[in-house]
Amino acid sequence: VTRFDTNAVHASAPQSDVHGALRTPVYDTAAFEFADSATLQGAFEGRQPAHTYSRSTNPTVEAFEQGLNTLAGGLGTVATASGMAAITEVVMALGGRDAKVVTSRYVFGNTISLLTKTLGRWGLDVQFVDMRDMAAVASAIDDRTALVFLESITNPQLQVADVAAIAEAAAGKGVPVVLDGTATTPYLFRSRDFGVAIEVLSTTKYVAGGGTSIGGAIIDTGRFDWRRHGRLADAARRFGPHALLATLRREVHRNLGGCLAPHNAYLQSLGLETLALRVERSCANAMTVAQRLAGRAGVLSVNYPGLPGSPDHAMAQRQFGDRYGGILTFELADKVACFRFMDNLTLIRRATNIGDNKTLALHPASTIYCEYKADELAPLGVSHRMIRLSVGIDDPDDVLEDLDRGLAAL
Ligand SMILES: Cc1ncc(COP(=O)(O)O)c(C=O)c1O
Repeated sequence: VTRFDTNAVHASAPQSDVHGALRTPVYDTAAFEFADSATLQGAFEGRQPAHTYSRSTNPTVEAFEQGLNTLAGGLGTVATASGMAAITEVVMALGGRDAKVVTSRYVFGNTISLLTKTLGRWGLDVQFVDMRDMAAVASAIDDRTALVFLESITNPQLQVADVAAIAEAAAGKGVPVVLDGTATTPYLFRSRDFGVAIEVLSTTKYVAGGGTSIGGAIIDTGRFDWRRHGRLADAARRFGPHALLATLRREVHRNLGGCLAPHNAYLQSLGLETLALRVERSCANAMTVAQRLAGRAGVLSVNYPGLPGSPDHAMAQRQFGDRYGGILTFELADKVACFRFMDNLTLIRRATNIGDNKTLALHPASTIYCEYKADELAPLGVSHRMIRLSVGIDDPDDVLEDLDRGLAAL
């Protein structure tokens, strides 16, 4: 058994490449040929593990999946084209007509749009609860509930719920918890230790690191007994603990076509190697920036789970080992002030990503949430006064100097 940093550099590297390559090559091919028809049939039937077609599996993608899975301590991992593809596949694997998802309004805006609009049209029912209100969570879970969905640190509200308590309440009713761990990654939060059934990730963010490519992942932590899930009970009889993974590989992932491209898998495997270093540095830099930004003229408030005044501080401290992620938000007087501030930055980039090596700033209300009217924003925990900062691995002194440049323009 090796440790996180060791697994990060070794787990997706090949053990026996024909040329001794230390990195899994990019297998940029759509299909794989077979010596004879019987072997090809065996591969399709799953009797002999083999790659047949890169929409289903691919060696470069598989190496990335194995690396990530080792870091998460999972049962198995399926890499996807994006974080949104990962969420879509999980909901489509576990849900169905009239199924219900219990979640929070404090999740990524596109996730809300996916659940309520895109999948809502196919009959999915969504019930929003406050994930910090355990009584509300427990009473929302009923026999139509296919899954409970939450984020480890919600984006951009930065709320942190008691994951173990929610997982226990859900498991008691035979319902799996799906956690979007994009903001924490398996480095800060080992979701299987908190009873999470499935972790989904946008690997576009911290895993890729340099903002090189879009990607996602579905990690079955192995903690949920799929025999207890109505939709997967048949698969559980056939595939045992691998019911979800088999349903994804043999049906949902294959049919939806949300596969990760081999070249992107290669880029993301590179990112995986340095995940711990970058997340550690981003967390430290975000803490420095949050502490020093609080009290600056023009800044009405700073929201960061690392600040002792944050309502989520204690929970984050307990769950994430005294590290609080790389994202913080702060409030300025109004939208005009936010735009003037943003437009006077010269180092920090104006962009919508998080988890990039570069520090990025965004005005969420006018971008990710631009479809919502002003009065619809408050329940989503977003306001026109809010700036989101994803603090990278650039020097926090330079980041603070640039923030001061923006503030000085107000
Ligand atoms: C928490 C969270 N989940 C999911 C996503 C979607 O991921 P992707 O952009 O890789 O589809 C994002 C950001 O885009 C996110 O911030």
